[in-house]
Amino acid sequence: MAGRLAGASSPLPRALLILAIVAIFSIFFLFLRSLGPAAAPSLSVDESRRLRPSSSSSPSSSSPETSLPSVYHSPEVFAAGYAEMERSFKVYIYPDGDPKTFYQTPRKLTGKYASEGYFFQNIRESRFRTHDPDRADLFFVPISPHKMRGKGTSYENMTMIVKDYVEGLMNKYPYWNRTLGADHFFVTCHDVGVRAFEGLPFMVKNSIRAVCSPSYNVDFIPHKDVALPQVLQPFALPEGGNDIENRTNLGFWAGHRNSKIRVILARVWENDTELAISNNRINRAIGELVYQKQFYRTKFCICPGGSQVNSARISDSIHYGCVPG
Ligand SMILES: *[C@@H]1O[C@H](CO)[C@@H](O)[C@H](O)[C@H]1NC(C)=O
Ligand SMILES: *[C@@H]1O[C@H](CO)[C@@H](O)[C@H](O)[C@H]1NC(C)=O
Ligand SMILES: *[C@@H]1O[C@H](CO)[C@@H](O)[C@H](O)[C@H]1NC(C)=O
Ligand SMILES: *[C@@H]1O[C@H](CO)[C@@H](O)[C@H](O)[C@H]1NC(C)=O
Repeated sequence: MAGRLAGASSPLPRALLILAIVAIFSIFFLFLRSLGPAAAPSLSVDESRRLRPSSSSSPSSSSPETSLPSVYHSPEVFAAGYAEMERSFKVYIYPDGDPKTFYQTPRKLTGKYASEGYFFQNIRESRFRTHDPDRADLFFVPISPHKMRGKGTSYENMTMIVKDYVEGLMNKYPYWNRTLGADHFFVTCHDVGVRAFEGLPFMVKNSIRAVCSPSYNVDFIPHKDVALPQVLQPFALPEGGNDIENRTNLGFWAGHRNSKIRVILARVWENDTELAISNNRINRAIGELVYQKQFYRTKFCICPGGSQVNSARISDSIHYGCVPG
């Protein structure tokens, strides 16, 4: 299928999936820790040293790696957790539901819902997948609200379909009841997904939700939910490379001033000659792919929150070789 080819030839969506998995994994460990030391896989600093032989000889002095600045509060614990994930982390995908209707497979891998499609596709092909539910750390509920929308299902019917499906899984399998869904996760992109899960408030409250537009007004719960990076597919132009000499703009942003931060940003920076700050969204009338070409010419691409928290600008920036900021 075309979708499979697109997935195989484009490394970015895979990188996004790995990001999301790492985020889900971190939440999973926090959850295990909250259950108490007996349930948590041991992640002591001693053990992380053993995983990194270079520092085992002199545990008292700080090793070169730990003395480097790091984005992690505790790089050793993170490294040990990451190695543990690579070794043993497993996801079980419930097999129920006819793939021809709303389950198992993404509808398409294009447009602003592409993240949802890639998430479904990549997790099915992932090495983290297990077919043995007894080995699973997390359970994926493979229902696609986007596909329901594609089939013209009403919001009322969507809510009923999702509710019936999830309640069916709860009754058929023992896994939900063990944690009341805390080790389950699902994907909801944009407003469709939010509406579709309205019939299951306890699932929205307990399970990990990967959301494309995690505004706080869609009940995004920061301690357990995950922002799934948006990606608009296909990209209009090929990826940008290591071509710093052509990046003559220091910064670039063009878009609607539909949030407080954007209004301030435009007001403060609009006349700065080192930056390319556009008064408004650049539209096609100005010229073919003018917006995309700006990414090639810029060092830092500003990605301010708009009416939604998330933005496809971040993945656009990475693709065109501009540092998102
Ligand atoms: C909603 O479900 C009802 C009952 O199954 C069905 O008759 C109706 O056509 C559905 N409507 C839409 C818009 O999906
Ligand atoms: C899970 O709990 C619910 C509510 O107590 C119950 O109706 C359901 O049958 C249980 N599921 C399983 C598989 O035991
Ligand atoms: C920089 O731009 C020029 C002119 O468009 C182009 O020929 C050249 O290949 C670009 N350099 C890199 C490294 O992409
Ligand atoms: C930018 O230039 C316009 C037109 O000259 C002016 O009205 C505006 O106040 C300037 N903005 C800033 C932040 O200096």
